[in-house]
Amino acid sequence: MPARVGITRIPVVVHVVWNTQAQNISDAQIQSQIDVLNRDFRKTNPDVAQVPQVWQSLVADARIEVFLATTDPNGNPTTGITRTQTQTTSFSQEGNPVKSAATGGADPWPADRYLNIWVCQLSGGLLGYAQFPGGPAQTDGVVIRHSGFGTTGTAAAPFDRGRTATHEIGHWVNLFHIWGDDGTGCNGTDEVADTPNQADENYGCPTFPSISCNNGPNGDMFMNYMDYTDDACMYMFTAGQVARIQAALDGPRSIGTSWTDPIQVPGWFGSEDQGGGVAITDINGNGRPDLIVFHIDNPPGANHGYYRIGWNLDTNGNVSGSWTDPIQVPGWFGSEDQGGGIAVADINGNGRPDLVVFHIDNPRGDNHGYYRVGWNLDTNGNVTGGWSNAVQVPGWFGWENQGGGVAIADVNANGRSDLIVFHIDNPSGENHGYYRVGFDLF
Ligand code: ARG
Ligand code: ZN
Ligand code: CA
Repeated sequence: MPARVGITRIPVVVHVVWNTQAQNISDAQIQSQIDVLNRDFRKTNPDVAQVPQVWQSLVADARIEVFLATTDPNGNPTTGITRTQTQTTSFSQEGNPVKSAATGGADPWPADRYLNIWVCQLSGGLLGYAQFPGGPAQTDGVVIRHSGFGTTGTAAAPFDRGRTATHEIGHWVNLFHIWGDDGTGCNGTDEVADTPNQADENYGCPTFPSISCNNGPNGDMFMNYMDYTDDACMYMFTAGQVARIQAALDGPRSIGTSWTDPIQVPGWFGSEDQGGGVAITDINGNGRPDLIVFHIDNPPGANHGYYRIGWNLDTNGNVSGSWTDPIQVPGWFGSEDQGGGIAVADINGNGRPDLVVFHIDNPRGDNHGYYRVGWNLDTNGNVTGGWSNAVQVPGWFGWENQGGGVAIADVNANGRSDLIVFHIDNPSGENHGYYRVGFDLF
């Protein structure tokens, strides 16, 4: 399992389990909680500025984003919210009754694919609770009291800034309480090196510095999400905590999707480009995919198409080999293009990949799409079998296009390659995307 890179995006399902109408909280209250989580776990919460100077260098971006699920466990569209009426006036933590329809709650969605958040009335003063990684799937997730959920609706001060969910999801990704859960003693630990040793939990809103366990001069890090202070007074995770989160997401919590940061292709693409595309295959046959990027350059005069190959993508998506120089596609692409793309496949079935480049030409008057085939890429990425002339796709592409692309597949399953060309039309008013399939062209 490779280490997590970039932002981990976790699909969430919120199960609203309500007895009184007020407990059937609004979609807006739910969204307000999602928004808080996406600030707190990205270090973009404005109150992070209040972290005392001495700890500002410890504040860390947990690189987690959450979103209401858009697909349910059966693959159908969903709002990511379930609503269940219950006879239960308040739920206790004991036995997890809210997590099962059989006991007056709502069943979880598969815990390896969704973060389950139940929102209900909880017994006593409990604001919320969580299950750590490694527990039973049937009870995995977090439970939050409706009046401590989000920032609007039934959310009530001093727990109306959404921090109960931040704290509980902190547990869900394996963070312990900052004071080490040993009562008032000084021997407990949260297994994180950069949080100060602290005696007990803090409530309300202490004044910095607040000293315990000889942890002067700076004292307790009571503004950490994993303390018990009021919502308005907690606003940070540390780098050490984020390292624990990272380990959890790389291991027992390998949930969600992730994106790398933008990775720059070396070299310059010109100062006015008019289309581009990307394709991928193992060109050099070493078992690792190679990346082909394509662009249409638009200097004064003739436009030209160029592709560049980045060798051997590693499992993090980085080009681990070198990049070729730009390789020019012979022939002219017009003097104004409005979209282009590239595709790769072994069209002629001789064991060597072939390239198809596509462009939308924009002369005065109507636009047209054209493709050109470069046969038999060698293991250096050069076309060895010659380029076809530009072949016009029949039909008109509109007067003004704003993007185009191409793909190859055997759509009609007869053993011959078919071409799919795509364009975005830009009449006055709304734009639309169109594709056209060319069957058995080769
Ligand atoms: N499990 C804790 C409780 O119920 C959560 C505390 C959250 N603190 C907060 N300020 N929201 O007390
Ligand atoms: Zn806790
Ligand atoms: Ca302690």
